[in-house]
Order: sequence, then C-alpha cells, then structure tokens
Amino acid sequence: MTGHDHESRIGELLNRMTVEEKFGQLQQLAWAWDTGPGGGDTEAAEAAARKGLLGSVLNVVGAGASNALQRIAVEESRLGIPLVFGLDVIHGYHTTFPVPLAQAAAFDPAVTAKDAEVSAREARSNGVHWTFSPMMDVTREPRWGRIAESTGEDPYLTTAYAMAKVRGYQGDDLTAPDRIAACAKHFVAYGGAEGGRDYNTVDVSEQRLRNLYLPPFRAAVGAGAATVMAGFNTISGIPAHAHPHTLTDILKEEWGFDGVVVSDWTGVLELIAHGAAAHEAEAARRSLTAGVDMEMVSTTFADHGRDLLASGALTRERLDDAVARVLRLKLRLGLFESPYVAESAALTAPSAESRAAAREVAGRCVVLLKNDDGLLPLDTSGPRALAVVGPFADSGDLLGTWTLPGAPEAVPVLAGLRAALPDTDIRHAAGVSPEGLDTSGIAEAVAVAEAADAVVLVVGEPPALSGEAAARSELGLPGAQEQLVRAVAGTGTPCVVVLVGGRPLTIGTWADRVPAIVMAWHPGIEAGHAVADVLTGAVVPGGKLPVTFPRTVGQVPLYHNHERTGRPYDPAAPGTKYVSRYLDLDAGPEFVFGHGLSYTTFALDEPRLSRERIGVTELRAGATVEVAVPVRNTGGREGDEVVQLYLQDPAATIAQPVRRLCGFRRVRLAPGEERQVRFTLGADDIGYWTDDPAGEFIVEPGELHLHTGNSSRTRARRTLLIT
Ligand code: NOJ
Repeated sequence: MTGHDHESRIGELLNRMTVEEKFGQLQQLAWAWDTGPGGGDTEAAEAAARKGLLGSVLNVVGAGASNALQRIAVEESRLGIPLVFGLDVIHGYHTTFPVPLAQAAAFDPAVTAKDAEVSAREARSNGVHWTFSPMMDVTREPRWGRIAESTGEDPYLTTAYAMAKVRGYQGDDLTAPDRIAACAKHFVAYGGAEGGRDYNTVDVSEQRLRNLYLPPFRAAVGAGAATVMAGFNTISGIPAHAHPHTLTDILKEEWGFDGVVVSDWTGVLELIAHGAAAHEAEAARRSLTAGVDMEMVSTTFADHGRDLLASGALTRERLDDAVARVLRLKLRLGLFESPYVAESAALTAPSAESRAAAREVAGRCVVLLKNDDGLLPLDTSGPRALAVVGPFADSGDLLGTWTLPGAPEAVPVLAGLRAALPDTDIRHAAGVSPEGLDTSGIAEAVAVAEAADAVVLVVGEPPALSGEAAARSELGLPGAQEQLVRAVAGTGTPCVVVLVGGRPLTIGTWADRVPAIVMAWHPGIEAGHAVADVLTGAVVPGGKLPVTFPRTVGQVPLYHNHERTGRPYDPAAPGTKYVSRYLDLDAGPEFVFGHGLSYTTFALDEPRLSRERIGVTELRAGATVEVAVPVRNTGGREGDEVVQLYLQDPAATIAQPVRRLCGFRRVRLAPGEERQVRFTLGADDIGYWTDDPAGEFIVEPGELHLHTGNSSRTRARRTLLIT
C-alpha cells in the first residue's frame, strides 16, 4: 500500500468512527506484566479492546498473549481496528546487548544497528510492533541513572547513533516480519535534569535546545522514526507533555513529522503534579493541544475528551489529526493486513548467531582506561595462576538496565576466563558483595590474590543502581568495594581492574594503585566471554569514552564541549586567582571524552584540508571542505583507532563551545599500516542555531580551528577561513 492509499483509508475510517472510538485510538494501556506507578491491568485492556476503545497496549510479552489480545480487537470490536503493541526493547529482547552508553563507547554506529536488527527480529516474531527506543537524550549528568540508556554527552555522537538505531529497527519496510517501529525519546531535554535527579526541572535556552538537545531528534525524524515520546521534564517552566513550541511548532511543523507522539507513562496526568493543570480535563487539554497524540496508561484523553470537544477547548481537526497519526502508524506496520504473528515462528531464545553478535559488540565497547607497563593483554603462555576476584567476578547480573522478563543472565567473567584459559589455574573469591558493608571476605580475596601470578578484580555498580529513577549522589564504588580494591592492590600481585557500570564512576582515590583498568560497562548477555576476549588479547580494545569521567562528584557537570568563560583556567598558570576553577582540586577530569587506549600504538599526522578558505554563500549552496588525517599503526599488533575531528569557533555572535565533535571514524590497521581518514565538513557542521524561537541557523564568517586526535585532548590544529 502506498502513502496515498494510507491517507484515503484513514479518511474512510475517520468517517466511520464515533467520538469515543476516536479517543479510544489515542489510548494506550499496560498489560499486567508491569506493575509500576499506575500499574498494568490486563482485564481493563481486554475490555477496552472489545469495545473498540483502545489503540495500543504496552508490555505484552509473548506471541500467544499478543495474538489473543489482538483477536479481541480485530474480531470483537465494531470496526476491527488492530492494536499496536509496544515494549521497551532498549538493548535487546532475548539477546541483551551492552547498555546504550557502552555501545556509544564503540564509536561505531554499526554496533547499535546490529543490536537494533537482532532486537527487531526477536521482538516482532513475538508480536511486538513498536519499541520505545532509541533514547537520544544528550546528558552531562553522570548522577542521572538514565545516562546508561543514553549515548553520552555529545550531540554529534548521539545523532549518529540515533540515526543508525532507527534504521536498524525499521529497515525500509515496517510491514516486514523482522522490523519494528522506533520511538525517538524523550522529547526533549530530559537529559538536562537538574542535579541529575530523575524527572527534575530543565531550564534551557532556545539556542542550547537547538544546538545540544534537538539535533539527534531532528536526525531521527529525518531517518524516518515512526514515533516520538514526550519527556517527563519541564522545558523552561512548561512540562514537555504540554509544550506546543517543541511538540508542534518544531517537531510537527518545522520538521514535518507525521508520526505519533506518545506520552510517557502517566505523563499527561502528571501535569497536575507538575503544577501545570488543576485537574484531569485541563491536563488532557494542555497535552492534546500541545501535540501529544497518544496517552500511555493514564486515561485523561478518553475520560475528558468528549467534553473538551463539546466546549470547543479541543478542535475536531486536532482530534482527527491525532487519530490519523495512530492509524497511519498501524497502516505503515501493515497491521490491517497482518494483525497476527505466526506463533510457531516466534523466536524464544538467543540464537548462536545473535550471541556471537552480542559478544563481538561487547568487545568493541570495552575502553582500556589505563595499562601501565603493558600488563594487558594477560600473559597466557605456560601454566599460570590467575585470581579472579570481586563482587562481579562470578556474577550474571551484568545485563544492565532494561531487560525483559525471562532474558537469560549474562555469562560471568569467571566463566568467560575459564573458557578462554582452560590450562590456567583460576581461583575465585568475591571478597565483598556489590553494595554491602561486610568486609569479612576481604581476607580470603587477598589470600587468593597473593597466591596468583596476576589478579583480575571485577568491581563496579550493579544494574539496579543505573537506569530510570536510579540517580546517585556519589559516583564511587558502592559498599565496601573500594576497601577490597585497596587490599587486593596492596598484595603487589599485578592487578587488572575490570569496571562494570552504567555511568562514569569516580575512581581517583584508587586508580593509581593498580596498573590496568578496563571499562567494561554493563556488557550484556555475553559479558564474560567479551571481557575474556579483551583480557587475553583475542580482541584488542578500541573503545573510547562517550562521557567525561570526573575525578570527584563535586566537579559535575564536567563535559568536553563546555562554553567558554571570560576567565578560563590556564593549566600553564595553575596558581592564578579569579579564574574558573575549584580551589580545592586541580582542574580537569580523570579521563577526558574520547579517551581510550589500545594494545598497539598509533600516530596521527597533521590534518590536511582540501581548501583553506570557503565562502558562507558557497557553504550554504552545499560546498564542503575535506579534512584528511593520516593515521598509522606504529605498534606490533593489529588494532583499532578512533580518529576524532573537533571544531572550534573562537569568535561568534553566540559564544561557542571550546570544541565540538564534528567527525569520528574507527579504523582497523595492521602493524605498520597507514590510512587516510577523510571527513567532509559542510554548513551543517560549521554553523549553529541562534536563540531565535523561529529557528535560525547561521554560518558566520571568521576563523575556524580544526583539531584532530585520538581523544578530545587533541594535538594537531588547522585554520579554516570562512569568508
Ligand atoms: C517510563 C520511561 O521514561 C520510558 O522511557 C518508557 O518507555 C516508559 N516508562 C514505558 O515503560
């Protein structure tokens, strides 16, 4: 069916629908699996489906359950309009990939496309049509638990991942049996929650909105994202669920988005708690007229819509537009033709191929933070004794936030190392629990470490401490883990710390006591094998940090693309007063954005520009500048380097960040091999959005500084003159 056919079918249906049936299409209810605030209610969903008063259901798990409910809607309701089934398939359905923040560390959007393809195949075969992913909330807040679901602090990196994931889920044809509709969330600026406390206030200027938070959404919509979810936050005083400027002016009018805007879970009703509506009818009015099309879990649209229409507070055009968007989604998914899923073809477990993909991806996400004296990869020659200690060493709790009921546990690191090193004498002691304060097991861990040739110490934060509503005020290792690190490091046995977690952790109090640190994040189902691959050298780490690692929580927010100040700190004059710094702490983070080591070494030469000046008019007409960066593997092993390009505009009408990432490429090079990495810069990369609410994107004349390097601590610099 073509888009034209869809529109005429929508018109016919709208003509036949009652007002109640129209509001019914705007209602999404939850299946009983989820008992969060508002809860799921299977019977209510079935009853509403039977009456034709339900558009969508979330959290139905399993092909049989989804078919049974779909049969009620299609065969028992007056118009037989199929339901669309949504689910939070965030980084896997059966096959759990690393958390999105980890995936960002691969600096390779192909990894997220892979996750999306595997997830879509598994989910659709089980009757899921629609995932509430990808989340593309740029965030500078490691305290915020949902940083784990994000792709970090950089809008350029986030944009690249958002587009790849949307395409990975949706492919070219949403009717295909292995594709699902994506949802760009949370619209918008949810990642700016003050203090990192979830759901908290966001006060943001138009220029920051447009330069920092909106770009990934704009790109996702451009890539065809079928749906968008409103955020729980306020945007400069107005809740995102009642924000016409972003939902309608920008998303629907400026960008031409014709898909569905779904509320977040009870997000419409929460306008009352926000202090933005006196009662449910007002919440429904504000949200619908601002541009929300479908209400998740709360029922204010369905309960008050008819009255709003009768009083003129809601126009028939707006109602029909919202219904048309929901019907369009269902038509795009082919649900009218194929409402059911083939139960016999439902995928019920990860396949060998999907596990292999998850293992490869997890390996690509690992970031080697530190490797003094080349301790890694581990020396695996000859019979050796290895201690594998720490609360996460023998843990399957490494999937990360957002996993589905019944998803298989992760392979523990201990099991991964035993499989990789069958001839090594591997001994284990947990030492402490992930969050407990009992230190009585530390002595055993120390004894195991003392008796070994090397120690792998697996510490970090459990998945329960990251994700939604999991803000932390401290970013160190929870419980007594730090004591364990000090004690094990004190044995003198060469020690590799494998860090697990869903956010940057502060490790400055112990990092200098151990020679090697590997950031493994929450690596997903194949965790143990992927970590073993890296520790043994079967995989050479090549990931880079998609977020700055602060030294103390007091430095937060600390991010690479910060604005300039009139009194910047100058590392060459550390004692200077009246500059932007802390008195009680040296400036700078523990690890910068883009940092990550390898088992080999690379040399990046000076970048070369295809031209050294270019006119604003030319740029606006589509002209580009090419930047070529020669990169050479100078070490003894094959490995990956991520070549990074940053831009700095030293004098602009709106002061620009000290650097903006505007290109990255991960390349694999054999020893001695050299490659030219090429980037193309156009007006989109060079210009910026002003504070104009109507949306003004400008390219200004002047000097631009281009920096290249293998982290955000860049070396080489070239000047491009914009005339
Ligand atoms: C609340 C979360 O904010 C959102 O991301 C998620 O998709 C919904 N719950 C549905 O579970």
